[in-house]
Amino acid sequence: MNIARKISKTFFEELLASNFTQEFENILKTRLENVENISTLYVHIPFCIKPCTFCCFVRYPYDETLYKAYVKALKREIEMFSSYLGDRKLNVYIGGGTPTIDVDGLLEVIDTILSLFKVGEISVEANPHTLNIDTIKALAGKVDRLSIGVQSLRKQTLARIGRRNHTIEEAVNSVKLASSYFKTVNVDLLWGLPKQDVDEVVEDAIKLIGLGANQITFYPAMPGLDEDVVLFKRVFGETDFNEDYVSYKKIYIAMTRNGFYPRTAWHFQLGQGLIDEYIVSGESYVGVGVSSISLIGDLVLVNTFNVRKYVDRIGSGKFAFAKAKLMSDIERTFYEMMMASFSLSIPESVLERLPKRYQILLKLVLSKMFRREGAFYKPRNVDAMFIISEAMRTFLSSLSWFRKKMLRAHV
Ligand SMILES: C[S@@+](CC[C@H](N)C(=O)[O-])C[C@H]1O[C@@H](n2cnc3c(N)ncnc32)[C@H](O)[C@@H]1O
Ligand code: SF4
Repeated sequence: MNIARKISKTFFEELLASNFTQEFENILKTRLENVENISTLYVHIPFCIKPCTFCCFVRYPYDETLYKAYVKALKREIEMFSSYLGDRKLNVYIGGGTPTIDVDGLLEVIDTILSLFKVGEISVEANPHTLNIDTIKALAGKVDRLSIGVQSLRKQTLARIGRRNHTIEEAVNSVKLASSYFKTVNVDLLWGLPKQDVDEVVEDAIKLIGLGANQITFYPAMPGLDEDVVLFKRVFGETDFNEDYVSYKKIYIAMTRNGFYPRTAWHFQLGQGLIDEYIVSGESYVGVGVSSISLIGDLVLVNTFNVRKYVDRIGSGKFAFAKAKLMSDIERTFYEMMMASFSLSIPESVLERLPKRYQILLKLVLSKMFRREGAFYKPRNVDAMFIISEAMRTFLSSLSWFRKKMLRAHV
């Protein structure tokens, strides 16, 4: 885990120290024209009813005027990319924040995307308070996967994580309603809070499956944006690796007994469907909206984290990038390996791109955790999956550190 921490921390420190210059704009144009595997469009809508303290994503309290200006800018930014992306088929992932906070604005964004691209599947994140029969019907038919943030069906847990934007009844009703309208209904649950009773997490998952959820994402708790690591430890206590290992195994056993199988180290699913993380494939993606990251071949771009700056920049017809970096071959390969292991299947071809001296060492390590299946390495057991889950948690904690620094620097 220390290696994962070091690699990801160094990467985000370099990204933070970087600047977006004209030179990167030229590189962007050539990459957009030449990189084949751009498969995802990520759209960030950063507004929430009442932001939760535990959250590690960039979000702001809802303000109607700012929201309207934001949607206008978002549509313009999507158009700016469309002239370069040509007629590639894209899966669309709309996250936040709370994209469903204003369904009319969200539909405007979706319709813009549908008019400009060949679209595979569309996934949208939602808060239970924003879901009722009208909003659900308005999205049904256009959205394939609705991902509902439930976190927990326990009042005490919601209070502990500073989540005051929906009731448990709203969570239960929204899952029940959504299950008749969408191909995939995902529910996010939070686990791994120090001293959290994992049996309660499992009970909640089974109840939500009974209500019609056909995918559950188990997010391990990570430090949020409002608290630094020290405060996180004071409020939540110290994360216990051994406790988390036992919890992870319990979740795995309960899910597989109920016919839910892991699609990634965090997602358990009944049947086939779009999975949550838009980055899991390790392929290239374009991110639009405030704080979004794009990865196009070896080029990493980060949009401004400031909504007003974003609206002004896009309004003046310019991209809103604040940071940019070219990944080295080794960085890109390690990144792909991490994403591939998170999605539980590492292609041999990725390993072969590493320099020989890493290949032998890695193959030795991997042979303990993974078994070979044709041209892929797959985790041998739940122990291997837990290690992968912790590596991802470490990576996302570094990303959370980066987000916090960007917000504090008003970049
Ligand atoms: C970007 S949020 C959007 C969900 C939606 N806004 C809602 O009402 O929750 C997606 C998911 O990230 C997870 N998440 C956010 N902050 C987290 C943290 N600090 N640690 C672990 N998971 C977190 C939560 O489970 C959440 O449902
Ligand atoms: S968890 Fe969802 S509702 Fe809470 S602050 Fe984060 S994005 Fe907003």
